Amino acid sequence: MAVRDDDCGRRALTERWSRTTGSSYGTPGLALVRGAGATVVDDTGRSYLDLVGGGLANVLGHAHPAVVNAVSTQAATLGQVSSRDVAESTVLLGELLLALTGPGRVVFTDSGAEANETAFQVSRLTGRSQVVATTGAFHGRTMGTLAFTGQPGSTHPFRTLPDTVTQVPFGDVQALRTAVSDATAMVILEAIQGENGVVVPPPGYLAAARTICTAAGALLVLDEAQTALGRTGHWFHHQSEGIAPDFVTLAQGLGGGLPLGACLAFGAAADLLATGAHGTTVGGSPLSCAAGLAVVRTIAGTGLLDHVKRIGDRLRTGIEAVAHPLLDEVRGAGLLLGIAFTEPVAVPVTDWLRAAGFLVDAVQPAVIRLAPPLVLTEEQADAFVGAFARALVADPGPRAAARLLVPGAA
Ligand SMILES: Cc1ncc(COP(=O)(O)O)c(C=O)c1O
Repeated sequence: MAVRDDDCGRRALTERWSRTTGSSYGTPGLALVRGAGATVVDDTGRSYLDLVGGGLANVLGHAHPAVVNAVSTQAATLGQVSSRDVAESTVLLGELLLALTGPGRVVFTDSGAEANETAFQVSRLTGRSQVVATTGAFHGRTMGTLAFTGQPGSTHPFRTLPDTVTQVPFGDVQALRTAVSDATAMVILEAIQGENGVVVPPPGYLAAARTICTAAGALLVLDEAQTALGRTGHWFHHQSEGIAPDFVTLAQGLGGGLPLGACLAFGAAADLLATGAHGTTVGGSPLSCAAGLAVVRTIAGTGLLDHVKRIGDRLRTGIEAVAHPLLDEVRGAGLLLGIAFTEPVAVPVTDWLRAAGFLVDAVQPAVIRLAPPLVLTEEQADAFVGAFARALVADPGPRAAARLLVPGAA
């Protein structure tokens, strides 16, 4: 049967999506057709400020010239190579990541779930099988990573999952100490729990986890899918705590929008990774790694770490200054911020903001996540703060929604 694009092209993209696509994310709100920096344009020609950053993947924003050039050049030079051969961009990116962290090894993957799956699989080579993870955590949607994802909504439909996992409350040092034993192969933690509503652990928690793991001979895996590569104003968020994990897993921003994840291992864990226990056909493809190189070089070469700290502070203080009774707190670090409400109004506020031209993520019923491209400008940050203030103060929408959602709410 001949298939022509214009057979379907007359219907709205979102309608076509609903007819054809399976996804756990629900029907898309917008059909986006192009972007530049932190701005995107939908199929009606309307512009939005994108504070979601392509699910945190577009760290340099849309169509950044460095990524466009690197990918175009790589695509015009050398495509995928077999797993028996290697291309320079893959080696260079691995070397750069290790230069930013410490001597070790890297296995590239296509996604964050696979990066965590790699650590999980390799941790079995210690001869131990038990895993300690945290409630509220999100680590991916493979059967292995679902087992240590602490969000029942994501995991329950797929039971029975690997049963070697103990969940403890995130941020609770004593609970971690009690759960970790000499049967524990690995402890896996997010540096900041992103999907759970940008939950920041108490100061010293990651350092305590390091001490507990070392004492028990367990591997410490830090899932930095959301927090690495400048997102919090540091190359890796754990570096701000001065700790040395055994594994760090990456995804999201690493490929600058192309599919790319990585599992980094240090010390004895690097020897486990060197066994070649894990692999994937296009993980670390020359194309994705060319994009990754452009991302890392641009962050380093344009002072983006300092920029993130400055713009992140500006956003946070601007939002805090809105000082509305619905606003509980602003938390997070750099440009990974959670706006927590006193009522479950994240969805109506997100809808109002979208109608006003600002894309944010209602990551929990009472929390909006902001994870804009790192290149967000001062003017864009201020424009968002202004819109947010109007959403809460001037416009009755969210407050009316709050009254609807929470009987008795002001
Ligand atoms: C902390 C964390 N780890 C892992 C993943 C899974 O990454 P991917 O969707 O690339 O498989 C995510 C995705 O949101 C994440 O937030």
